[in-house]
Amino acid sequence: MIYDLIIIGGGPAGYLAAERAAHGGLKVLLFEKRNVGGVCLNEGCIPTKTFLYSAKLADGASHGNKYGVYADGVKVKHDEVVARKNKVVKTLTGGIRSQLKALGVEIVEAVAHIEKKNAEGYNVSAEGNVYTAKRLLIAAGSEAIVPPIEGVREQYAAGFCMTNREILDMTEVPEKLVVIGGGVIGLEMASYFNSIGSKVTIVEMLNKIGGNIDAEIAKILQKNYEKKGIIFNLGCKVTAVRPGAVEFERDGKKESVEADRVLLSIGRRAASKDLGLENLGIVMDRANVVTDERLQTNMPGVYACGDINGKIMLAHTAYREAEVAVNNMLGIRDRMSYNAIPGVIYTNPEVAYVGESEESAKAKGIDVVAKTVSMRYAGRYVAENEGGDGIIKIVVDKKWNKLIGVHMIANYASEIIYGCVTMIEKGLTIDEIKKVVFPHPTVSEALREAIFML
Ligand code: NAI
Repeated sequence: MIYDLIIIGGGPAGYLAAERAAHGGLKVLLFEKRNVGGVCLNEGCIPTKTFLYSAKLADGASHGNKYGVYADGVKVKHDEVVARKNKVVKTLTGGIRSQLKALGVEIVEAVAHIEKKNAEGYNVSAEGNVYTAKRLLIAAGSEAIVPPIEGVREQYAAGFCMTNREILDMTEVPEKLVVIGGGVIGLEMASYFNSIGSKVTIVEMLNKIGGNIDAEIAKILQKNYEKKGIIFNLGCKVTAVRPGAVEFERDGKKESVEADRVLLSIGRRAASKDLGLENLGIVMDRANVVTDERLQTNMPGVYACGDINGKIMLAHTAYREAEVAVNNMLGIRDRMSYNAIPGVIYTNPEVAYVGESEESAKAKGIDVVAKTVSMRYAGRYVAENEGGDGIIKIVVDKKWNKLIGVHMIANYASEIIYGCVTMIEKGLTIDEIKKVVFPHPTVSEALREAIFML
């Protein structure tokens, strides 16, 4: 049998592409070597959100006295949180499986390897069988980087160092957790373990946390977590991990911090090794598969979506890329736009952003005006955030009077940001946004205030 499409990888890019392609009438075969749902569902986005929701409940209860609520002896049973996480993951991955089955997608749970192109299409082998399809979609995702720092590989093998995968299954609570890398994973995990009682220390190479989030917002987030007891060692390069300790350099001087466990969260790399991409002569940029705006590689009919192309390693980017790729397979014109991809850090408070920052706009030569407004302009924020220091920052293209960037730190930011995504993606002008009616009272009204203060 010749399939219309073979997909390698069943994460957000792969399973969504399978659903859309099957819905569009293609005969689809999906290979998954671990679990359908990929990193996002099994060991990333969803598991961390179940953890962080429990932490949020505990934080709310513990600090309830600011709101006239007294709950003594609040405690988090971490093993129960892990069990609930497993239940949530099972429900969601089960849902995806049934959906794929209902659409007639065949799933093979095995490691797939690309063999060659012939007159009929592309050959892919798995467990001694060979399958053929007219088109291929590479959606094999990414893996956590385990860096070649002294002792890291050994301590990872010994279970002392963990990546996002292992930490989400750990049922005990480390007394001292050291997080290497103050990016998205590092901050979300630091936030959770801080809430449930670990002494958390972050060691970050750069002088700022949160990767490319706005610098002022990064400072506010850091201040919030310093108050909660997290220790930040910024501008510090890890030099070695030994049993019970992490060593690092600050201004050329050696320091060390004790640890019961260590989380490695220094980034991810496209999982393109061992797929057989070289058999098709697929053009690569280091580990990343090079794709165009239709998500096509240099080989006709071979597409690559999600983390494997290394463009923006986020599940929601993968979803949209998958749709663009499938639309092009189905003969529907579609192109990927990376202009308005939102980013969220699910800390407490949350950070969310989309589009340009003042600095990135200026670097591109765009003449901008930026306005920063306290979230306290929104009544609901004041009602729900005693002493809250959240802000919203908007960046406007002066020439066209269009909104091109929004950055905020406040709870609900993760849910508010999509409105901003729509405004930026659709190129709304400030005058058009002024006519949008926001629900009252909501935290989102701070955006409206910022717009009217320009
Ligand atoms: P990241 O790229 O966000 O952060 C890694 C951090 O580690 C950087 O700040 C970097 O400066 C630092 N670093 C690198 N080498 C270091 C060293 N030797 N010593 C100290 N610090 C070092 O990577 P992260 O947090 O591992 O996340 C991986 C991917 O997962 C990202 O692409 C992220 O977008 C995605 N993700 C997204 C989430 C979300 O959208 N909420 C949640 C979790 C992950």
